Amino acid sequence: MRLDRFLSETTSLTRSLAKRALKNGEVTLNDEPIKQAATHIDTDSDVVVFNGARLALVGLRYIMLHKPADVECTARRGLYPRVIDLIDLPKAERLQPVGRLDVDTTGLLLLTDDGQWSHRVTSPRHRCAKVYIAELDEPMDEEAAELAIQQVADGIMLDGEETPTQPATLRFLSPKQAELTITEGRYHQVKRMFVALGNHVNALHRRSIGDVVLTDELAPGEWRELTPEEIASF
Ligand code: URA
Repeated sequence: MRLDRFLSETTSLTRSLAKRALKNGEVTLNDEPIKQAATHIDTDSDVVVFNGARLALVGLRYIMLHKPADVECTARRGLYPRVIDLIDLPKAERLQPVGRLDVDTTGLLLLTDDGQWSHRVTSPRHRCAKVYIAELDEPMDEEAAELAIQQVADGIMLDGEETPTQPATLRFLSPKQAELTITEGRYHQVKRMFVALGNHVNALHRRSIGDVVLTDELAPGEWRELTPEEIASF
């Protein structure tokens, strides 16, 4: 790999700042000062030091974030802060959210730079279960709840769509709080499912994706790396 590219991949320097750091003599290669940006290095065996630290390429990264409300899952800067602004890692902008949560939805969000893994988690073919807690506008009595549970289990037609939702599981935790487990990720799916059931979601929180569960260890806005077991579970 070219030295200037290696510097920009392993630090927060842009390619042109990496070239400048090289010109300024701030980088050594195998203990010798090096100024040529086009030098090819072996990223496994060559020792590149910048600012007193040996640089190394990071592998693929897998993160879980407790997404707070009013933070967006987009890459563009817009009205709200972006989820990647909460991840204080070099090159965080290379991480992509694995599926999206609405700006007002809270809870578990996975991020990675591994496109194949992301596809495994989100592809409807893999039927990965996602569990949401919905705070509802209207209380549902026992009879309405039983009907809704059956409709969700059978699959319901969402406004503007041609195929019903995949069978899903609905459980009422109280008359105005429901746990919905779905295996797809259609646009605003949970909110639209409750609209189809004649209700409205006032607040939505994602508790888990597959075997990865958001627990109290992460406060809103906090993140951690997934464990090897969690990564391998998809
Ligand atoms: N379903 C929704 O309606 N919103 C989300 O953010 C996630 C699932």
